Amino acid sequence: MAHADRDTLPNVVKPSHYAIFLANLELGGSWGYNGTVKIDASVSKPTKEIVLNVKEISVVKAEIQAASTSIKAVDISYDKVSERATLSFEKEIAPGDVLLNIEFTATINEAMAGFSRAKYKATVTPASSTPKADEFHYMLSTQFEACDARRAFPCFDEPNLKATFDFEIEIPKDLVALGNMPVKSERDGSKEGLKIVSFERTPVMSTYLLAWAVGDFEYVEAQTERKYNGASIPVRVYTTRGLKDQAYYALGCAHKTIDYFSELFGIDYPLPKSDLLCVHKFASGAMENWGLVTYRTTAVLFDEGKSDARYKNRIAYVVAHELAHQWFGNLVTMDWWSELWLNEGFATWVGWLAVDHFYPEWNVWSQFVAESFRQASQLDSLRASHPIEVPVKNALEVDQIFDHISYLKGSSVIRMLSSHLGQDTFIKGVSDYLKAHAYGNATTNDLWSALSKASGQDVNSFMDPWIRKIGYPVVTVAEEPSQISVRQTRFLSSGDVKPEEDETIWWIPLGIKTGSESADIKLQALTSKSDTIRDINETFYKLNRDQTGFYRTNYPSERLAKLGQNLHLLSTEDKIGLVGDAAALAVSGEGTTPALLALIEGFAQETNYLVWSQISTSLANLQTVFAGNETVATALKSFKLKLVTPAVETIGWEFPPGEDYLTGQLRKLLIAMAGNAGHEGIIAEAKRRFQLWASGQDPSAIHSNLRSTIFGLNISEGDRVEFDRVKEEYLKTDSVDGKEICLSSLGRTKNPELVQEYLDLVFSDHVAVQDVHTGAASLAANSKARHLLWQYMKSNWAAVSTRLSSNNVVFERFVRLGLAKFSDIGVAEDIKSFFQDKDTGAYDRALVIVADSIRTNARYKDREEQLLLEWLQAHGY
Ligand code: BES
Ligand code: ZN
Repeated sequence: MAHADRDTLPNVVKPSHYAIFLANLELGGSWGYNGTVKIDASVSKPTKEIVLNVKEISVVKAEIQAASTSIKAVDISYDKVSERATLSFEKEIAPGDVLLNIEFTATINEAMAGFSRAKYKATVTPASSTPKADEFHYMLSTQFEACDARRAFPCFDEPNLKATFDFEIEIPKDLVALGNMPVKSERDGSKEGLKIVSFERTPVMSTYLLAWAVGDFEYVEAQTERKYNGASIPVRVYTTRGLKDQAYYALGCAHKTIDYFSELFGIDYPLPKSDLLCVHKFASGAMENWGLVTYRTTAVLFDEGKSDARYKNRIAYVVAHELAHQWFGNLVTMDWWSELWLNEGFATWVGWLAVDHFYPEWNVWSQFVAESFRQASQLDSLRASHPIEVPVKNALEVDQIFDHISYLKGSSVIRMLSSHLGQDTFIKGVSDYLKAHAYGNATTNDLWSALSKASGQDVNSFMDPWIRKIGYPVVTVAEEPSQISVRQTRFLSSGDVKPEEDETIWWIPLGIKTGSESADIKLQALTSKSDTIRDINETFYKLNRDQTGFYRTNYPSERLAKLGQNLHLLSTEDKIGLVGDAAALAVSGEGTTPALLALIEGFAQETNYLVWSQISTSLANLQTVFAGNETVATALKSFKLKLVTPAVETIGWEFPPGEDYLTGQLRKLLIAMAGNAGHEGIIAEAKRRFQLWASGQDPSAIHSNLRSTIFGLNISEGDRVEFDRVKEEYLKTDSVDGKEICLSSLGRTKNPELVQEYLDLVFSDHVAVQDVHTGAASLAANSKARHLLWQYMKSNWAAVSTRLSSNNVVFERFVRLGLAKFSDIGVAEDIKSFFQDKDTGAYDRALVIVADSIRTNARYKDREEQLLLEWLQAHGY
């Protein structure tokens, strides 16, 4: 079936099996290699041409073997833009089964896409054949999603052209090769010192999930507790030599999660092994290659007692997310990239479900509301957003869809649906879906059908607008005696929605709480523009129980104030949602900043980290937007100081042994908030501890959980001495999270000269391309520095873009994180005109988001500045 809305390969050749052999790897030299790929395929109509995908590959020779004849390709032409090669054969190929034989050459690149090499500093003596340059060594690995398998070998690189794969590679004898499947055999290579490693045949799978790696690897291993066909499955975490001791935490997560998902989905983990590989240069966080999941270092390594506990939470989640894909994505794959959300939205939701199962005390659904819901609803309140299911005509456009809409709005609407159907029913439907489409491809409609069957409800009808329409609603409540009327409208943070942008009627589960018990809930849904709900308790009610619905609630102002006095009746998710909604409504103009601040004042006694995290984010946004007005900025600072002082003085500085994770994180957050708000005692103590550590007098003066806070405060309150000391630490530490923490802290300096130095550092070889966005995000959050970042980008654009252009994920992220925090229309215009004549293909979506965010901030500032100032002054701040 041909799809008019997809720009795909001609529908003539369908591959069923690939045998790939790579040899003559020029390790440490030219980095070239020779490959052969033999593709079993069926040809559906007579043709003299075969078109397949290649990128940065030269086809040396191609030949078709069919029946007893062989037909040579006489011409090979390349289309660089569409990343295709056309093989023209000397004779017509008859329909039927053929073997397509291709010899090619390619390069092991540094792009973190395709087949790449990654430079690293070895902490112990590596094996002698490890490729080397100066004090650096190299490991090799692949990253094929979305469209880069074609950069490693010629292939039919589309998610629904599934096939089986045999893989063989020739490498030095003392290195290790990994693939999706276990090693089948090893034999001597073509030269002394080389071996050829071959791997077992994979199940039927998509090209983007194929992977291999080569390096001086070591591993830690565990076995699943569950038995699969009578035996446990080996689970290994591979690192380059010297790092495996930091792999145990991820290992423990991984083997338990495999058992958990096998049980949850009612389908055994489909492969005979599961490897995790730590990759030194990695553009995103992790990649779910079937049986060989790759990770950036900070998403898999944890140094007990030395790493910030926050990274445990991250690792547990990333591991679960990627393992969820082994079923959802790998076993059953979206038919085409327009349904990417199926993969990513689901893996996000079920990843958190697994973490919640193993760590109920982490309260991850509150974390979800404070982080994921917040970011999804923020992006989706811009005109620059897009529907969850998005037309992707050309697969090369899909890179920019790996965004908060696919992941976070996608998982938020899944959470809403699961909470409506009941989790058991929901999982039953998912399991049926996975079983029905195993080793195949499926669509959103296939999932809805399975869920409809499992639940007896017409899921498609009420989920459709959530998936196919842009945006989400705000429900505005009006009160009448013992009843309320509710009305839905599209929510835009610019607050200026036009009638033609407000035509969607969403299905909205109202989840009205009327007391603290779970029985006190009205499970009505709003299915029209407006409606009346009767029998409402006037003393207390709240919509959107646990913030499971993907919408905002706009209460009359007296009701919001009342809710603020009844916080004890609310769940943690409710409280986070209440603050988040109030903050967003202040931005759009449907609420006010004074109402938000009055609500927040009521949280002084709060003890939950995740509630504080939402408060902190909301206040930080005010500080960003109103930074240009000194009086407002100072008053906001004193608001924050008064709010946080009792809490920070209660929680103190020490981490008692055995303390729970959330309390530890709360301490870190409160100290940071108090310090930023100018709390003198906190700043003095942060300086004292820094001093002890910096001078070497007491290397343990800074608790591992407090490095980001203490470094950050000392950089922002201090000057060159502190900056130089943290920079020195950045350059010399081999702690994986330590590097990230130092880099981020350095961006908090207020000294323009140091900002320049920092920018030079960020764009030097001391900062890996994959981490450049950490610098951008840090400067963008710093009101004294964000315009210097923009200045730097303009003055050094050639260098900046050369450095970032090798990888689209990296480039897009840099532009978006670096520029979205301004609140001056003038800057938006400057940005627009600067990029006018540039090739912005890799990040055009980011630019629209940047423009929209700045406009929203500017409107907000202009509308509220005066009102906010009056309120702050009237309240003594
Ligand atoms: N499939 C993605 C990896 C990916 C991202 C490939 C972008 C191509 C482009 C993977 O499953 C993923 O979602 N990784 C996340 C981390 C995850 C835990 C949210 C990432 O890399 O950010
Ligand atoms: Zn994913």
